[in-house]
Amino acid sequence: MRKSIVAVTAVGSALIVSAPPSSAAPSAEGSITKEAFGKLADGTKVDRYTLTNGRTRVRILTYGGIIQTLEVPDRHGHRGNVVLGFRTLKDYVDKNGGPYFGALIGRYANRIAKGRFTLDGKTYQLAINNGPNSLHGGLKGFNTKVWKAEPVRGKDSVGLRLTYTSVDGEEHYPGTLKTTVTYTLTRKNALQIGYHATTDKATIVNLTNHSYFNLAGEGSGVAYDHRLQLNADRYTPVDDTSIPLGPIASVKGTPFDFISPHAIGERIRDNDPQLLIGHGYDHNYVLNKPKPNALTLAAKVTDPRSGRVMEASTTQPGVQLYTANFLDGTLVGTSGHAYRQGDAFCLETQHFPDSPNKPNFPSTVLRPGQAFDATTVYAFSTK
Ligand code: GLA
Repeated sequence: MRKSIVAVTAVGSALIVSAPPSSAAPSAEGSITKEAFGKLADGTKVDRYTLTNGRTRVRILTYGGIIQTLEVPDRHGHRGNVVLGFRTLKDYVDKNGGPYFGALIGRYANRIAKGRFTLDGKTYQLAINNGPNSLHGGLKGFNTKVWKAEPVRGKDSVGLRLTYTSVDGEEHYPGTLKTTVTYTLTRKNALQIGYHATTDKATIVNLTNHSYFNLAGEGSGVAYDHRLQLNADRYTPVDDTSIPLGPIASVKGTPFDFISPHAIGERIRDNDPQLLIGHGYDHNYVLNKPKPNALTLAAKVTDPRSGRVMEASTTQPGVQLYTANFLDGTLVGTSGHAYRQGDAFCLETQHFPDSPNKPNFPSTVLRPGQAFDATTVYAFSTK
């Protein structure tokens, strides 16, 4: 991707990095701006970047690489924020360890049973932070780190490259892991997330973004009427601590079947043992792929009210459908509304939960000399 930042102007507290005034007109509407968002208790500065292509606007924090807002046009062209989030840095620091709104998750997204895994004969013990298991990278995962940010500009896109180096032993994971996540907003209204990681010792890695979507608008109530289609014939049923049992199961004949579209809420209260464990959907789907790592459609979601459509494509083997089951009305979001159960849905593209302990799952081991690379695209349109 070409990087060309030609003009930097200070406007109020915001730093405007403007588009090159060239005849390469396609990106003329694109802009990347930066402003101060706050400071952590230790004085570390946190910035907020705003990327826009003229129609869609996304705000990204250097804290946790968090997507704070994502404003997308509805069928009448009215922009609305389609992701849950907080207004202030303090809220993210104090409260985001529960929901992980919009955050980058690492080193290991989702759960590792009892926080334990063995690699090349050595057993590692991670922090336990979710029942008996380790969740989303431990006590201070990537969602709590301040990432180095660099604007990137393509012919038809604006973007932000975030980097973070996790030192050997951080959160008890082996190896120094260098991670780069690149957010790219394209002219065609797609938000692309590119993940890249390398290590200096054998380790495990599973990276995702934990955005909570509501295509009718953040704070507008439950998203149960959204129609969801998932390109997955199979999923990984879990035990009562949400660790995959091991065998991969067919969705046929169960409320997990979204091969043809269904409203998210249509079967969410069915008396199904898996739905009862998750308090709704909180499960990993095994994506149908012609070959591993192919960038293919994972999910399509349509909101009948606004007409907004989101298509999620990924190179990753799985996606966690999580229907915001644990939001209980105690968190107040960006528009001042309290968030409750079902107010959003997450499509966390990922490797399967507990892969380090499941030899039949695609491997999450990364070794020196190898690179972990993954791409996820959330593309927006209307109908
Ligand atoms: C993931 C998990 C859920 C929950 C959320 C964050 O989606 O699978 O169980 O922990 O993150 O609240």
